[in-house]
Amino acid sequence: MTGEGVRIYEVGPRDGLQNESVAIPTDVKRRFVELLVDAGLRDIEATSFVSPAAIPQLADAEALLPLLPRRPAVRYPVLVPNSRGLARAEAAGATAIAVFTAASEAFTERNIGMSVAASLEAFDPVLAHAGQLGWWRRAYISTAFGCPYTGHVEPARVVEVALRLLELGADEVCFGDTIGVGVPRQVSELTALATKAGIPIGRTAYHFHDTRGTALANVWAGLEAGVRCFDSSAGGTGGCPYAPGAAGNLATEDLVYLLDASGFEHGVRLEGVLRAARFIAGALGRPLASKVGQAGGWDPASGEPIGRA
Ligand code: COA
Ligand code: ZN
Repeated sequence: MTGEGVRIYEVGPRDGLQNESVAIPTDVKRRFVELLVDAGLRDIEATSFVSPAAIPQLADAEALLPLLPRRPAVRYPVLVPNSRGLARAEAAGATAIAVFTAASEAFTERNIGMSVAASLEAFDPVLAHAGQLGWWRRAYISTAFGCPYTGHVEPARVVEVALRLLELGADEVCFGDTIGVGVPRQVSELTALATKAGIPIGRTAYHFHDTRGTALANVWAGLEAGVRCFDSSAGGTGGCPYAPGAAGNLATEDLVYLLDASGFEHGVRLEGVLRAARFIAGALGRPLASKVGQAGGWDPASGEPIGRA
């Protein structure tokens, strides 16, 4: 399975920054995105058009989006919870969105104040309108492996919600391990169930948090099952304020190292990611905590680390 292409979907500017207690100036966010583009990332989830009261860290979405470098191959999906968010995104020049619900009722209620069924109803016109505009549309199914409020989540329910989102027009469904409790066996099972239910593997993505150190193992299970899109955040920042105990996303530098050393093509340069990761860690006032951020990459020709600070 080596030599194949993998898409790395960068969530640092959105998932990575939404839960930070330090206020981050818009210009720092812009620079972070520029460094990510320079590193070769082509899918960068830039911000959210949600209620500023719910996520104050991303309240500058209107100001940020027009500042980002426009490159033909680069897409900046933005998170949108409802038609109001879509209208804001459109006015700010977005061309790609991500809607988000969950497999768990309790989490959906706390995160977006709706039942799962109500969220699907709310997304129907949002996905339809975005489709008319010719935008790319992703849909997240959060808490795919467990809910912080109610525990175990049935894979069949995850698949049911994903199928509905595809029917509503999503181009891609992304299964999120919001609180980082999943293990590879669950990834294999969920992927097999999804495929059996008719969800195309090419429209399937995974979003792992490394809360319990299982994120890379989970990526490998996804790769073995044929999945070719994974989310990560440069520097491994991130977490959802409505998911108590959720630690950072899988770090992009850790993902890039695994893919490089395993022979997958992805177009992202490790040293560029490390530059972006160091930049954002510095802006947040903390050391870079990811494994590869600390150790650097590794050059098999010389035996030397690559990109270590
Ligand atoms: N953009 C800006 N403001 C919005 C908005 C949007 N997309 N949608 C709603 N609002 C405003 C309303 O105008 C209202 O403002 P007011 O209190 O000043 O009158 C307030 O937000 C509440 O709106 P309401 O329709 O009553 O919904 P709610 O309180 O149930 O909130 C969401 C629903 C979805 C808007 C809110 O829960 C939310 O934005 N959640 C995002 C959570 C998130 O991003 N989590 C992290 C990602 S996993
Ligand atoms: Zn996340």
